[in-house]
Amino acid sequence: MFRGLLLRILFFKYWCSHRKLTYRGWSVIYAFPKSLIKIGDKTSLYSSFSSNMLGLYQRCIIVARYGGKIEIGENCGISGSTIYAWNSIKIGDYTRVGANCKIIDNDFHPVELEHRHKALNEEYARRAPIEIGDDCFIGMNSVILKGTKLGNNVIVGAGSVVHGSFPDNCIIAGNPAKIIKMLDE
Ligand SMILES: CC(C)(COP(=O)(O)OP(=O)(O)OC[C@H]1O[C@@H](n2cnc3c(N)ncnc32)[C@H](O)[C@@H]1OP(=O)(O)O)[C@@H](O)C(=O)NCCC(=O)NCCS
Repeated sequence: MFRGLLLRILFFKYWCSHRKLTYRGWSVIYAFPKSLIKIGDKTSLYSSFSSNMLGLYQRCIIVARYGGKIEIGENCGISGSTIYAWNSIKIGDYTRVGANCKIIDNDFHPVELEHRHKALNEEYARRAPIEIGDDCFIGMNSVILKGTKLGNNVIVGAGSVVHGSFPDNCIIAGNPAKIIKMLDE
């Protein structure tokens, strides 16, 4: 009962397309004013230590801020990862986000020194939308940076740092991530 109540409080600030989500452990989901989070049916959020025996360093944290928008499709699975939007992050259906990933569509701090000194983060931190297609599989401990576009069925190797655009049906890996293999359709 308490869990249900807390979930309602967490849900209060965001709109969920359908409430048929699976939670393992507590996730942090928060849309600031004028921001939006949508999560599709049958998506699972794994946040408790025992929900993924790879060892999660954190809970799922899904935050939209400064008018940011997050849309996560149906039948996705997200394990102990952060998805943080100031602009827009779209994730397609059946995409898996492995343990301890970060998907961030902004730099949080400006590149220019004078703006950093004045902490003008909202005004000057760079941001660009992220699009991740259907059926992607993002390996554990990966970082997906602003402006990234992944097609459908893109596999991201564990521990990758991803920036740029990648076509459908490929495996990318490394820092910075490059295509290491094309997959048969
Ligand atoms: C990306 C991945 C799926 C590729 O598997 P694969 O197709 O069997 O690829 P291979 O093992 O044959 O490796 C192919 C090449 O890519 C390289 N490679 C594979 N994974 C890599 C990674 N994460 N980072 C950098 N290079 C990688 C290999 O070194 C190899 O290079 P080489 O051809 O020069 O020897 C796999 O390596 C991986 O990272 N899996 C992620 C597992 C994971 O995080 N699961 C989620 C748990 S929550």
